Amino acid sequence: MQRIAEPELMDGVEQAFAYTQADFEAPHQHCLDCLRQVLPDLPRAGTALDLGCGPGDITLRFAKAYPHWQVHGLEGAPAMLAQGMAAVTRAGLEGRVKLVQAYLPQGEAPLAQYDLVFSNSLLHHLADPMVLWQSVHRWAAPGAGVFMMDLMRPEGAAIAQALVDQYAADEPEILRRDFYQSLCAAYRIPEVQQQLQASGLGHLQIKPVSDRHWIVWGRHSQGSATINSANCNLKEPNSMCYVPSAKV
Ligand SMILES: C[S@@+](CC[C@H](N)C(=O)[O-])C[C@H]1O[C@@H](n2cnc3c(N)ncnc32)[C@H](O)[C@@H]1O
Repeated sequence: MQRIAEPELMDGVEQAFAYTQADFEAPHQHCLDCLRQVLPDLPRAGTALDLGCGPGDITLRFAKAYPHWQVHGLEGAPAMLAQGMAAVTRAGLEGRVKLVQAYLPQGEAPLAQYDLVFSNSLLHHLADPMVLWQSVHRWAAPGAGVFMMDLMRPEGAAIAQALVDQYAADEPEILRRDFYQSLCAAYRIPEVQQQLQASGLGHLQIKPVSDRHWIVWGRHSQGSATINSANCNLKEPNSMCYVPSAKV
């Protein structure tokens, strides 16, 4: 199945509400469990940045699991951000969790660098996938943890529909449609590996962790990166390729 891009931002009020109400307990807890497993040596206290945090469910799960960390989330859609900010208030975590509007690659994070940069289900939304990996270079401190999780595009439409039926049987139609479109927009592991290589992050590891998810993880290298737009073979318009000038 060829990749079919979907709209970048989830900025419909109804869409953001349906997404916030959906039962993501299993996949979101799985995301946290995977992060813990592949980055077992995160310090007791630190700073983390969640890219494309949506309504903040994983941001908050991380903050609760790592009670001595400051956690910031960037989100481009005001409707999603509003849901996320309300969730932070409900959780009483305003002192440690801050969500801000930033439409990547524009926008600023509250801090210049973080000890951990993570995201869930952002990559397949981006018009230019390199924006995710550029964001790692931009905000991950030298040696910082990097953790990304996203969907894997299935072989065909029938499998995509079967996954929707299996995992979103009881969800509203708007959410089932979004899930189907997300599966069609998702990248496969070889495609992500190509992006990592092109962005100077080829040392990060990647593996499938379910019938529909992969994870990327590792440490941000200490070398700086330079743009190499002449050496890009991603077939993505406007992609910038990064080549690290030094790696450790
Ligand atoms: C599928 S949701 C995932 C939300 C959250 N990470 C989660 O796992 O629940 C993807 C989110 O990324 C946001 N997004 C997409 N493109 C973005 C961009 N360029 N900058 C910032 N946020 C973006 C969307 O608005 C949406 O809220």
